[in-house]
Amino acid sequence: MNIAPFKLERYYTIHEFSAKYPLCNSDCEAMSIKDLLSLEKGAMDKFHDLWLGYTETKGHPDLRKDITTIYSQITPNDLLVCTGAQEPIFLFSQANLALGDEVIVQWPCYQSLQSVPESIGCKVSEWKVKYEDNIPVFDIEDLKKMITSKTKVIYLNTPHNPTGFHFSKEEQTTIVEIARAHNIIIFCDEVYRELEHSPDYTIPAFADAYEHGVSVGVMSKAYGLPGLRIGWIASRNSKILENVAILKEYTTICNAGPSEFLAGIGLRNRDKILERNLRIIHKNLSLFDIFFNKYSDLFSWYRPNAGPIAFVKMNFDRNDAKFAENVLKKQGVLLLPGDIYNFKGFFRIGFGKTAMPKALEQFEAFVIENLVNV
Ligand SMILES: Cc1ncc(COP(=O)(O)O)c(C=O)c1O
Repeated sequence: MNIAPFKLERYYTIHEFSAKYPLCNSDCEAMSIKDLLSLEKGAMDKFHDLWLGYTETKGHPDLRKDITTIYSQITPNDLLVCTGAQEPIFLFSQANLALGDEVIVQWPCYQSLQSVPESIGCKVSEWKVKYEDNIPVFDIEDLKKMITSKTKVIYLNTPHNPTGFHFSKEEQTTIVEIARAHNIIIFCDEVYRELEHSPDYTIPAFADAYEHGVSVGVMSKAYGLPGLRIGWIASRNSKILENVAILKEYTTICNAGPSEFLAGIGLRNRDKILERNLRIIHKNLSLFDIFFNKYSDLFSWYRPNAGPIAFVKMNFDRNDAKFAENVLKKQGVLLLPGDIYNFKGFFRIGFGKTAMPKALEQFEAFVIENLVNV
């Protein structure tokens, strides 16, 4: 298989566990197994009694039932539980695309949405973000012009990594109508779903909104449980799901039973978890508001209405990768440079964790010493 190295995951492999002050994380605050078990009476005993045999390839029926509670049309049969979100992204493309197919990807993007189709030999067209007064926009007229008779899949990601953009209900309806008219599959990476900063910004999952829609969800981001490595793919198109299931038998076969059990607790108690994580997000966002207001000549940012990440524009002439390298070296603060997305002049920040204010303090110290007092 000839696939480009995953720039973002390479970067995290190198820096995630050594950087002192991470300021670009895309997951929300995690918790211990003990704290998670304490959310449900009797869960501790059940966890200790859990049988460590093989599990069902599709995912435990109870877990699939719990997952359906975040959808309106999806039933347990419309779900395949996988390892994180990365596995279903990989398997979906591998199982449903062939050499010569054409796909469109919302861009910049989480790289597997683009690199996996490219590795298969698909023609990948980038539906590029446009910044209008610092606000990221995905122009639907541009999307319409990109569609050809060979377009098989439109890859979306909302809330979006890295821009923080999130589709409105009206935009979603229009995109679904376009896809339906051309019989195109919509694959939407929805790992940040349920992290809308106000309920007004909630939109249906694409798997609910469209009969050929595919939604990917995960425990890693909104629910802050990435260590479980539990994610899923949802679609009412049974052929798509079946293709993925057949390939999954070559990768992970089935999921870790203890993780499935714990994910169920997380989902049944997600209101509490989301309330806590949104509280952290709102608090951290208000600190970023103050910071970016103070240094508005240096940085511009779009304050997202959903998700735990934002993309910041550098208003000074500096290579973003070099800038991030310097910030890390001098102050121990980890930023994610736009270079990782091949999108120059920006860096990604994250605000879903309780340690973020400390990292921002350190970043401000760097800014004062290296950008203000120079
Ligand atoms: C948009 C997007 N999709 C998928 C993933 C992968 O999620 P996981 O690590 O749970 O497999 C990430 C992780 O950062 C992401 O940002």
